[in-house]
Amino acid sequence: MAIERIAILDYGSQYTQLIARRIREQNVYSEILPFGTAAEKLRADLPAGIILSGGPDSVFEPGAPGIDEGIFSLGVPVLGICYGMQLMSRTLGGEVAKGETREYGKTEIEAQPGNDLFTGMPARFTVWMSHGDRVERIPAGFKVSATSANCPYAAIRDEARRFYALQFHPEVAHTQFGSQIISNFLFKVCGCAGSWKMEDWIAATVENLRKTIGGDEVVLGLSGGVDSSVVAVLLHKAIGRRLHCIFVDNGLLRHGEAREVEEMFSKRLGLDLHVARAAQRFYAALRGVEEPEEKRKIIGREFINVFAEEARKFRSCRFLAQGTIYPDVIESSSAKKGPSQTIKSHHNVGGLPPDLKFELVEPLRDLFKDEVRAVGRALGMAAELLDRQPFPGPGLGVRVLGEVTEEKVKLLQQADLRVQEEIRKLPDYKSIWQTFAVLLPVRSVGVMGDQRTYEWTCAVRSVDSVDAMTADWTRIPYDTLATISNRIINEVRGINRVVYDISSKPPATIEWE
Ligand code: XMP
Repeated sequence: MAIERIAILDYGSQYTQLIARRIREQNVYSEILPFGTAAEKLRADLPAGIILSGGPDSVFEPGAPGIDEGIFSLGVPVLGICYGMQLMSRTLGGEVAKGETREYGKTEIEAQPGNDLFTGMPARFTVWMSHGDRVERIPAGFKVSATSANCPYAAIRDEARRFYALQFHPEVAHTQFGSQIISNFLFKVCGCAGSWKMEDWIAATVENLRKTIGGDEVVLGLSGGVDSSVVAVLLHKAIGRRLHCIFVDNGLLRHGEAREVEEMFSKRLGLDLHVARAAQRFYAALRGVEEPEEKRKIIGREFINVFAEEARKFRSCRFLAQGTIYPDVIESSSAKKGPSQTIKSHHNVGGLPPDLKFELVEPLRDLFKDEVRAVGRALGMAAELLDRQPFPGPGLGVRVLGEVTEEKVKLLQQADLRVQEEIRKLPDYKSIWQTFAVLLPVRSVGVMGDQRTYEWTCAVRSVDSVDAMTADWTRIPYDTLATISNRIINEVRGINRVVYDISSKPPATIEWE
């Protein structure tokens, strides 16, 4: 039986994947197709509905992305969003005018009663607009669903043919009731059943991976973070021990982390794991270096060297797998256009030397972080692995301020261990973005028993954030701060002072270097 699905024709909006995600959230499968997809191709296996995404073009530009008009004769519901609305209107005989000014941002719309898409919503609500051109005359058979101060046709519909169009973006969080609008399209208009699950995504992805990889082998840089761990388990499910994982122990990991990764992936999950024990190499390369950017460059370069050396043992592998997720794709494509520029730079396998030619496999590249966690849960992975806080690629190298030495890393690991143990006891631990210790290059005087001490200072940093672009310091309960401070000072020899960082980002950054 064909699976129930929504086809999204992609007109190049940065939100296209977000539409797909909103649909997945409602337990419906969706498929993103190029805008030029032929109607006949869809007719062979009809989707339950079609969505025309937004896009950066103007329908007036020569060569602007068009549509096979046959799509409107398939008899399935169509929802046009922004550019998709303009294209739909123009194709069906309406009129679109070239915009003099862009309308961008939040706008209030007034919805007309009796529209399926707005069922359950108040008459007025706020939506997110981002368009230049706009519809001036609607095609025959359509009526107005909503207006705004700047836009007489903020939403239109032709119920008989089940065509709907929105000038605003229901998929973005700024649009009130956006998910509800999409849900109404899926269930009220397209009649979807909503029985799709993450397990179905896993089954389809595993099948695709098997098809792509065939009898070949794959090498993966496993960092122990959420994304690469989920890729490892997924690939292991698909091809078993034809997946070879490389874990670089750079000596800059949290306390016990290298051991935990080995324990989990090699012993418990049975993956073919190769640990490159390279700590001394990193410490040697960092000797005498104090400047933060230089430290980052050295750590990045050393990582590539170690990874490449290890990967050369797997020359027979055809593929290199990476835990690229959708936000990484956006980040790198805004910096550089083109699908080939999507390597996750902070995982540092982007700049492999030319003798190592692998084809990339990136099974998570359409997913958002919380979806990756959901995949991990569906794969039966441990919660403590999936709920991990972000950890920077250069690791403790940027948390030992100034020169990094093995002794200082060990000291920081001990302090950080206490921070982690205590913070995990908080009931709202999961809502905290990141908590960690930083070793400052500052010594101060203290007294312990009857002894004068002159030892290092540890800063505790904890922030709340949604995307790491901005962050505020966590209001950790005083009692927890007190326990952290007492434990570090009493249990970690070499630190006699603990301070709490109360800077927000901006102007401070989350990491100190
Ligand atoms: P900043 O310090 O720029 O950090 O406010 C923002 C977020 O990014 C993490 N971070 C990194 N992650 N490689 C990474 O994978 C890096 O080089 C790196 N530097 C910072 C940081 O922990 C925070 O979550």
